[in-house]
Amino acid sequence: MSNTFTKNILCIGAGYVGGPTMAVIAEHCPEYRVTVADINAQRIEAWNSDELPIYEPGLKELVLRNRGKNLFYTTDIPSAVREADIIFVSVNTPTKTFGSGAGKASDLQFLERTARQIVECSESGKIVVEKSTLPVRTAQALSRVLQANTKGLKFRIVSNPEFLAEGTAIHDLESPDRVLIGGTSDEGGQAAVEEIAEIYTHWVQKDKIITTSLWSSELTKLVANAFLAQRISSINSISALCEKTGADVDQVSQAIGLDQRIGAKFLRAGIGFGGSCFKKDILNLVYLCEHYGLNEVAQYWESVVNINDYQARRFVEKMVDAMFNTVTDKRIAILGFAFKANTGDTRETPALAVCQQLLAEKANLAICDPKALVNAKNDLCDALGNVEFTADPYQACKGAHAVVILTDWPEFQTLDYQRILDNLQKPAFLFDGRNCLNHEALFQMGYNVFPIGKPAQAHFAP
Ligand SMILES: NC(=O)c1ccc[n+]([C@@H]2O[C@H](COP(=O)([O-])OP(=O)(O)OC[C@H]3O[C@@H](n4cnc5c(N)ncnc54)[C@H](O)[C@@H]3O)[C@@H](O)[C@H]2O)c1
Repeated sequence: MSNTFTKNILCIGAGYVGGPTMAVIAEHCPEYRVTVADINAQRIEAWNSDELPIYEPGLKELVLRNRGKNLFYTTDIPSAVREADIIFVSVNTPTKTFGSGAGKASDLQFLERTARQIVECSESGKIVVEKSTLPVRTAQALSRVLQANTKGLKFRIVSNPEFLAEGTAIHDLESPDRVLIGGTSDEGGQAAVEEIAEIYTHWVQKDKIITTSLWSSELTKLVANAFLAQRISSINSISALCEKTGADVDQVSQAIGLDQRIGAKFLRAGIGFGGSCFKKDILNLVYLCEHYGLNEVAQYWESVVNINDYQARRFVEKMVDAMFNTVTDKRIAILGFAFKANTGDTRETPALAVCQQLLAEKANLAICDPKALVNAKNDLCDALGNVEFTADPYQACKGAHAVVILTDWPEFQTLDYQRILDNLQKPAFLFDGRNCLNHEALFQMGYNVFPIGKPAQAHFAP
């Protein structure tokens, strides 16, 4: 290995967080050697190819610019660990599906396996950075595994949770609202925090780099996601009331958002939040509260997830009701399957719940998404019923009884809706689960339009 690099940084876990984060570090820190390692050989092969395993605007350009210079991808974890000074751990921490805490607690098996591998392969002490989102006090368990080594090696643990949002990951990493670094208060712990902060000072203003205790840092990540999800569930709960009363949820959210104490962001009603993190992190918070006997607090946060499930369920019930109480054997065009625009990620996408419920009603689905078709096929591979996948929205809509927007991809806003209407069954239904189309124009064109949290615009009495 070249010894022109001043530091060796390793990230274990080459996913949606590890991949983009390390690409940005490599870009801004040419004097560091940045290696990304994973047990998934297919993923690493893809990172080393022209077809990256994940889609993020701007990611490919960054990777192509730095790969082979100071950015490397490998499955050889033992060598990478041996050579590293700093190890970011960015493995997945899904909700446990078995045993105690199933359905709520984090499954920490991947994290612990990584810690044991670090101990096994290390020949020198290192800083181990928790990049994955973890239950508060995980650093304690991690520390016990790492310090139990018989080689006399000293490991320092630092918490540095990631706040990027998929779809805008590169922008979020380049211009973060803040970088949070938690460590122990002793001299060694603070020195480790400083060393991690030093990486970020290459491109982040110093006043945006916040340092806290380990426990505050671990908890902050869970709380940040819980607050973001809570805003979505809050406005979605109001959307249900708007539909009953004739109020318009966009007008309500705009008016409340102008209050600076509330703020305008994350107040758009829709079919609900998705992605791998919000639900899992809130459920983890719920589990922690229950563990500490804080049952009222647990129930409060669990209701955020319950409203989210309710919103997707309510959307399909509204569809069935509008379409004369049956969708059986009707072709439904699903525009968008990714959990949000600009990503191919479909983990916890509300589109899956909507599609499964429509299939249970025996509807026939034609699913279209610009980036998420491969994942959509995997997600629905066991689904019983008639499901077609196409990258062409006009093909998906051909002969359909209804068009359903489930992801706010910009390209769906500029489709030729007259052409689509000409090929739809009549009466033509359009359900906008993201309130991202011009409803008045579509109604004038001849559609029966059903937004979220706004009065329906139908050519017959709905
Ligand atoms: N996806 C997001 O938007 C986001 C944002 C912030 C934080 N997070 C958190 O970051 C963590 C990672 O999330 P992600 O979306 O990147 O997950 P991911 O599933 O995309 O990637 C995790 C990777 O870790 C690898 N891995 C698992 N065990 C391993 C081991 N023992 N050795 C080497 N590699 C191993 C997996 O093969 C996988 O490629 C999670 O804790 C998540 O909650 C995610």
